[in-house]
Amino acid sequence: MSEAQHQETFELAALRQRFVSMFSVARRAAAERQFDRVGPALAERLAAVYGGTAGFGEWMATVYEDLGRLAATRSAALVALDQQRALQPDWFLRQHMVGYSAYVDRFGGTLAGVGERIDHLRALGVDYLHLLPFLQARQGESDGGFAVSSFEHVEPALGTMDDLETLASQLQEAGISLCADLVLNHVADDHPWAQAAAAGDAAMRQFFHVFPDRILPDAYEATVGEVFPQAAPGNFSQVPAMGGWVWTTFYPFQWDLNYAHPPVFAAIAHALLQLANRGVKVFRLDSAPFLWKRLGTLCINQPEVHQILAALRACVELVAPGVLLKAEAIVPTEQVSAYFGRDELRGRECQLAYHSGLMASAWAALAEGHAGLPKQLLADTPPPPEACGWVTYVRCHDDIVWGVLRPLAEAAGEDFSRRIGAAAAYLEGRTPGSFARGAAFQTLDGEGVHGSNGMAAALVGLPEHMLDDIQPAALRRYVLLYALAFWVGAVPLIYMGDELGQYSNTDPADAGRVALDGRWLQRPALSTEALAALSSGRGVPAATFAALTALVAARRHQHWPSASKVSVVAHPNPGLLIVQRGDETLGIFNFSASHAMVDLESLGVGTGWSDLFASGADVMTSRDLRKLQPWATLWRSRTHD
Ligand code: GLC
Repeated sequence: MSEAQHQETFELAALRQRFVSMFSVARRAAAERQFDRVGPALAERLAAVYGGTAGFGEWMATVYEDLGRLAATRSAALVALDQQRALQPDWFLRQHMVGYSAYVDRFGGTLAGVGERIDHLRALGVDYLHLLPFLQARQGESDGGFAVSSFEHVEPALGTMDDLETLASQLQEAGISLCADLVLNHVADDHPWAQAAAAGDAAMRQFFHVFPDRILPDAYEATVGEVFPQAAPGNFSQVPAMGGWVWTTFYPFQWDLNYAHPPVFAAIAHALLQLANRGVKVFRLDSAPFLWKRLGTLCINQPEVHQILAALRACVELVAPGVLLKAEAIVPTEQVSAYFGRDELRGRECQLAYHSGLMASAWAALAEGHAGLPKQLLADTPPPPEACGWVTYVRCHDDIVWGVLRPLAEAAGEDFSRRIGAAAAYLEGRTPGSFARGAAFQTLDGEGVHGSNGMAAALVGLPEHMLDDIQPAALRRYVLLYALAFWVGAVPLIYMGDELGQYSNTDPADAGRVALDGRWLQRPALSTEALAALSSGRGVPAATFAALTALVAARRHQHWPSASKVSVVAHPNPGLLIVQRGDETLGIFNFSASHAMVDLESLGVGTGWSDLFASGADVMTSRDLRKLQPWATLWRSRTHD
């Protein structure tokens, strides 16, 4: 054995000892086995990022001790669930999950109130609930809770940590996995770490990126983009108490954490695992791409980001192995795929990632009237590694971020701003004759191409007043987009209020917020009036709810393939997106405003196949010929006796 190997063995033994010593004597043998399974890989990942920092060895020992403490205090019920899930690591891909994403206050008032809405979620077929940030947020403006002031406390208006535990177990009993945000990139300027740093605590100052003058900030600005170019231009904020400039990618009150400083990693891993021990089953890793800064780059998607996330995953596997990580990386799809892990990290990073490119390309296709962008995007996207899958969605609490389509548009030889700008203008209702009523986000002149806001109902042209007549074509557009998300996704997400076809937020009480940040347009409170219309089977809410439950039911069909491998089928009609899923199902999506004829036999889905789901797909005299109405959807599956 060489000197180096000997050294490593010795260190691992010490780490093992620190981890295991946190358990009671009766549980030590199990803890040792758990360490032997994951502990060495974690050490390797931490060494890859932090190996060169002073005091690395001792720091690592404290990390393992903390992980041991967290693992030893995990409840018996959660440990049992971990064990069950270990037997089937792709459990979330096989159960045909359907997710729902909501703000606690807008959806249920409080965490306890969310518990009272479980029946609503079950009626919809939901088994995965993503609650947007509910931890204690900054006083005043808080970016919808994304400026976290404490990882230890729930936002007082929403409840307590005990309420969170109660809700997590209520959801578990109802077969729903709870997903929570973990804001990785920054904390609020009133978080104790920031306050201590501002008060002169030198150790805490290292938690942030602070610059005495503009020299380095200006050098970074030469290549770094802007998330909110209008409301928060630039990436640095002058903070007199810090004696200089602080890196603030998002709003000035959100201070980026310095992940090059090992204690930041340890503190965030601790925060995540504490919440996992409260019963959170999935973490949405908010703004994951931004964790590592490198001069001369965009300061996103750096290799260290992937090493950090793989290290975080290893921490989770050591302490709470049943828990999933989901990357929120709103970057071009090719780069999002990397969040599943590449090369030696393949399948070892996040199990889930948002398919933001598919979402944006589907909206652009709706505006363009042909399926070119999603077709290309799906053809270019490799299947995720084993036991990993896409989270697909139509709308979310954020804008439709158009930048994710830049490489796709440019690869097609198009000018991004002209092409995608036209699609955005259409969705924002700026094109004559457009059915859509969205709004531009963060464009200085209201005409550039940054993001678009609005609820799905407004973007597809459903009526603003829920009891007004519904144009069948508008409903088909709504169904088309959700059907595509349900078709491609491992976990399709329904966005709060979309099941009721809620329109963009026009509540006068929210007008100020909408004016400050247009994303509040898609954050209306769940409408009790719409819930009443749903229960009496009337208007938009009844129609959209019925459409979604039909999709959920079709997706739960016994022959739905569990693997998320999809492939695009060529067709001469540019309006049609035809996607095969496994060998037994085929989806046809008409993105054009015109009828389309399809011959099912020639697509190989005629004889021996039947409809799994159909919206606007008229049967012609010949059984195999279908007349697809504008924006029609047709899912076919092989018939089994
Ligand atoms: C994510 C969130 C977004 C927030 C940002 C900063 O992108 O989805 O709402 O503004 O992170 O935390």
